[in-house]
Amino acid sequence: MASVLAILAAYLIGSISFAVVVSRLFGLSDPRTYGSKNPGATNVLRSGNKAAAALTLLGDGFKGWLAVWLALTFKEQYELGSSTIAAVGLAVFIGHLWPVFFRFVGGKGVATALGVLLAINVWLGVGTFVTWLVVAYAFRYSSLAALIASLFAPFYYGLLFGPDLTLLAVAIMSGLLIYRHGSNIANLMRGKESRIGSKKK
Ligand code: G3P
Repeated sequence: MASVLAILAAYLIGSISFAVVVSRLFGLSDPRTYGSKNPGATNVLRSGNKAAAALTLLGDGFKGWLAVWLALTFKEQYELGSSTIAAVGLAVFIGHLWPVFFRFVGGKGVATALGVLLAINVWLGVGTFVTWLVVAYAFRYSSLAALIASLFAPFYYGLLFGPDLTLLAVAIMSGLLIYRHGSNIANLMRGKESRIGSKKK
């Protein structure tokens, strides 16, 4: 029962879309109405408000981290096994992608996945984030950086811990993240993807 509640709570935490909440607080347009129409930090940046984009990134990242951190912190007290911890990581991510509070129309999961990875292991999160940074700096495409970092994340996990259920959860997370970037992949291939810092259309 505790496992089911932990997974459900993680899904609910993930369902809080910081892009929408922060934009409302800042009096900005709803990010689902401009740019890529994605409720995420990259798209909020297209509003021109860097503080709102940074807060979105922090909020979406923090919720991923928080859900896994809570499960890890209370795992002995509530007898949560490693499969539950892995499912909690996946559930908070899925909450971001298909949020119950926003008619199941969510984001692409980059910041939330990063938060989950940081909570699983700080080096896993740092390694994945550095991969994102290097690609983003080199090519100026947030989506390309996320796609490449998501390919590396399961590889980094495997190197650190070997194969287990959490590796499966990380791999599923990467697969879903890539799936959600379908329009970005199409735009990248057509040379139409907007670069980091370009304003909304
Ligand atoms: O954080 C999502 C990013 O990888 C792509 O966002 O708005 O360019 O589709 P966007």
